[in-house]
Amino acid sequence: MFVAVISNGISAQVPRATAIVSGEAWLDSKGNRITAHAGSVLFHEGHFYWYGERRGKTIDEQPGVRAYRSTDLMNWEDLGTVLSKTTTPGDTLEVGCIIERPKVLFNRKTGKFIMWFHFEDKGRGYGPAKYGVAIADAPQGPFTLVRAERPNKGIWPANAQPAEMIASYQRPEWLPESMRIISIDASDKRYKRLIDGFNDGQEARDQTVWQDEDGKAYHFYSSEMNGTMHIAELSEDYLSHTGKYVRALWGQSREAPCVFKRNGRYYLITSGCTGWAPNPAMLHVSDSIWGPWKDIHNPWQGEEAMTRVSFESQGAMIFSLPNYKDAFVFLSDRWRPKQISDSRYVWQILEFKDNHAIINWRDRWDLSVFTPPSASDGK
Ligand code: GAL
Repeated sequence: MFVAVISNGISAQVPRATAIVSGEAWLDSKGNRITAHAGSVLFHEGHFYWYGERRGKTIDEQPGVRAYRSTDLMNWEDLGTVLSKTTTPGDTLEVGCIIERPKVLFNRKTGKFIMWFHFEDKGRGYGPAKYGVAIADAPQGPFTLVRAERPNKGIWPANAQPAEMIASYQRPEWLPESMRIISIDASDKRYKRLIDGFNDGQEARDQTVWQDEDGKAYHFYSSEMNGTMHIAELSEDYLSHTGKYVRALWGQSREAPCVFKRNGRYYLITSGCTGWAPNPAMLHVSDSIWGPWKDIHNPWQGEEAMTRVSFESQGAMIFSLPNYKDAFVFLSDRWRPKQISDSRYVWQILEFKDNHAIINWRDRWDLSVFTPPSASDGK
């Protein structure tokens, strides 16, 4: 039992949660509302760490990135704000800037915790379209900003090049045979955003970072006015891009990328692009991180009225339980834009049918839905 102090000053017992109940108001171990939206979960040394947008009553009230810690994904201890905005005028993180969709990776080589997020400068709405990266020595932070900027300035995507470059193009080793290289015609309006991005850096809004089994990590971001997804390789320390990147889901206007890998294939669940309003999700699959990505289906199962709004949710991240087989948790948000701090969480598990992920709504579930790793796995 945890002890909570309620508003009239009387201490109350906070009962331990025994299930994940999507759509309900979730409380932390002190009885306060959990505020960690569009977030991510990282497992590190026996604990789950949940990072997300700390949201106030209004959309603008947003003090930074909040973290929580748990051992069972149900009972969460508040670790406070781990990446804070500042009151220093002119500072990049000055209150008024926007930090969204924070994702944290542990870098095994450097022993550091690296957070990537969507960043917008103070007072400029969603115009700047930048990414931010921050670093910490410990999972509970504090995180320090490394940089906020637009990615891949002055670099063409590997699968879209100006005609004169294709003529002399040596295909790098890493580029899969299946990759389609588009010749950019500068007079074609469809390439305007990409060409602008070559000069100013590519637009980066909704985003995630994802770590492959070999330790390489990738940045997925909605670019070109949210019309096309870019997939960019990160440097070994996860603090910057290497310059290898591709365009994917051309012109499909997909957001909220959530990545996972199963049986050697790469999967991506995205949302449509309708702001806070929910829309149908889509599962995409590829044999290579670089594509080509193929649309499969909306993974949500059930009545059309609910599947077309993804059970009133938008994806944040797919978390795979370490050491388990096929144990994936799909973290989503049920936004309430009129009072953003009252937004809810929809966490469901992925099931597999014909090798593709589907999601069946469960009112309540806990980790016992997954088959635990057997002792013979030796893990
Ligand atoms: C959504 C996006 C959210 C937030 C919102 C603002 O499409 O996924 O992260 O940016 O738009 O309207």
